[in-house]
Amino acid sequence: MEELQVETTQGETYPVAIGDHCSEGFPAFWNRISGSSKAVVVIDERVKSLHGDSITHMLSLCDLEILYEHQVPSGEASKGWEHLRDIIDGALNHGLLRNTPVIVIGGGVTGDLGGFAASCLMRGVPLIHIPTTLLAMVDSSIGGKTAINHTRGKNLVGAFYQPQGVWMDTQWLKTLEKRDWVNGMSEILKYGYIADRKVFDQVADLSLQEIRQQPDTMIDLIRQSVRIKAEIVNQDTKEKGLRAVLNFGHTFGHAMEALGDYGDLAHGEAVYAGMIAALEASNIRGARFEVQKLLSFKDWYDIRINHFKDRIDELIALMKQDKKSTENGIRLVLVHDWARPYVAVTDEGVIRTSFQRLFEHLS
Ligand code: GLY
Repeated sequence: MEELQVETTQGETYPVAIGDHCSEGFPAFWNRISGSSKAVVVIDERVKSLHGDSITHMLSLCDLEILYEHQVPSGEASKGWEHLRDIIDGALNHGLLRNTPVIVIGGGVTGDLGGFAASCLMRGVPLIHIPTTLLAMVDSSIGGKTAINHTRGKNLVGAFYQPQGVWMDTQWLKTLEKRDWVNGMSEILKYGYIADRKVFDQVADLSLQEIRQQPDTMIDLIRQSVRIKAEIVNQDTKEKGLRAVLNFGHTFGHAMEALGDYGDLAHGEAVYAGMIAALEASNIRGARFEVQKLLSFKDWYDIRINHFKDRIDELIALMKQDKKSTENGIRLVLVHDWARPYVAVTDEGVIRTSFQRLFEHLS
């Protein structure tokens, strides 16, 4: 069991524990971060059906009384008002108090939804994240972003709300579908571009088949990803500046996710495609990246975006609605070189050409 600390600019500090088959260590962790004898659980439905017994065992080691459990169907559609209201109603109707922790177990959707519910309940009850997907481990469970989606766009209703602790056990990764593995890989590749080329090279050396059989071999890359994200969050928790670099590839990606009604592309697939476009845009503005390096992962993904080819105007319109965009235009995270990210208002012509090149690469 290893532990890293996340420190925020607001002075909060919390531990992130990373291990494999490490449930027996959970009570000591729990007593350190909470010690409460009661909790509310928000859990992904699929995780519950696959790992329900071992999760119940782990929580029983802490003698926890679960006041209320809310199961979240997998998929972006769950990240809305309905589930938020059900969690809040269930928690309040079953005796949640100001100091009752909410334990959120699942991937990014469950984490964002459950985290936001915890931030709203009684103006904020303690939150503990137990991420069970690679994407949630390396990205969404760290740094306190919580949200639900709105019909006007993704993550438009939310709050920065930090957990008391994050518990990662790679045993939960064993049952991930291939699509969920590569979703997480996109975020790790992103850390390679924005912070540490060695991380990218390490991903390039992986065999997807091997890590799916032995998820504990991912511990080192998970640790490095958490370290990189924690360093950025430590300097700019509320995304006043630097933290925006974590959105490398995301502005292009979010537009494609939205155009496909969040059904055509999973988040990590959109981020992978978005990073290809962002590298093209970086090169147009003077960088010298070999886009081929990123394209060498193409076979991991099953990305079909040919039908977006004639809809670049709509993609650009969606990018204008991105939270980072301003009256001055579309702001993108680009890279001068490895580990040298920057944010720039980017000409629509550059964006259009980048999309065209992306569609050629992935056609
Ligand atoms: N996933 C981007 C962030 O946490 O800032």
